[in-house]
Amino acid sequence: MIQKIYKILQEMIMRIIIKKNYDDLSKEAAGIIRNLIKTKPDCVLGLATGSTPIGLYRELIRFHKEEGLSFSRVTTFNLDEYYGLQPSHPQSYRYFMDTNLFKDIDIKPENTFVPEGSVKRQDIVRHCADYEQRIKKAGGIDIQVLGIGGDGHIAFNEPGSSFNSRTRLVSLDAQTINDNSRFFNNSEEVPQFALSMGIGTILEAREILFLASGENKADIVAQAIEGPLTSMVTASALQLHPKVNVILDEEAAFSLKRYSYYKFTQEAEGKIEMPIF
Ligand code: F6R
Repeated sequence: MIQKIYKILQEMIMRIIIKKNYDDLSKEAAGIIRNLIKTKPDCVLGLATGSTPIGLYRELIRFHKEEGLSFSRVTTFNLDEYYGLQPSHPQSYRYFMDTNLFKDIDIKPENTFVPEGSVKRQDIVRHCADYEQRIKKAGGIDIQVLGIGGDGHIAFNEPGSSFNSRTRLVSLDAQTINDNSRFFNNSEEVPQFALSMGIGTILEAREILFLASGENKADIVAQAIEGPLTSMVTASALQLHPKVNVILDEEAAFSLKRYSYYKFTQEAEGKIEMPIF
């Protein structure tokens, strides 16, 4: 009985893991996904795009090639897609996923879902509702991978988005357009709208894998993890989730007020081989 309670409590935490660098962060995240696939081969993964998860995807490809980790029964749902881009556009998130992960693993293309940025305007509402339904029908998301935007967004839930929001058409913040212009020729080419899972949708995932790397993320990470719950930093909503693994590299962890405490806990856990929460 006590062990059962301990196990339940163990699930109800925001665990902060600080790794030396981006490579170690990516390996740690990939290890968590590998464990899930091994225990639940037909699991449902929520995936993100952007620079942050590239190392994680590289590791998953390595597990597939070197260890035979199979994705043949895995289903995936991506967080978001630029509105107005065709799937074949090199900056579309569908294209990103195909080239950075799907083409190199044995996942069935029909089991990979990304909101469709090319859907007609009059079909957007239905498409978003269908996306939510598909997630439910698949049994819900087991692990949702997240990065964080410079303005604190998760998926494309820009400052001010409701914590109850669902998959919908959103307009992008000027900061996001500016941040993401590095992938386009200039900021005018960055789409101004996107289809994005909502914060409510994300919070329904059974587990969250929240990743951040680099000094430019340090201040916003500290606000998200240690600051007040506020829709002005939508990632702060994760403080409400019962099971979050926050994996940071040293640079992204730099502004955490409780940095030493997290490091101490992490080291103590290693020594006593038991989770502390
Ligand atoms: C991507 C996504 C975004 C990114 C965020 C961080 O699908 O939903 O929220 O995770 O903008 O992007 P990077 O990793 O490029 O810093």
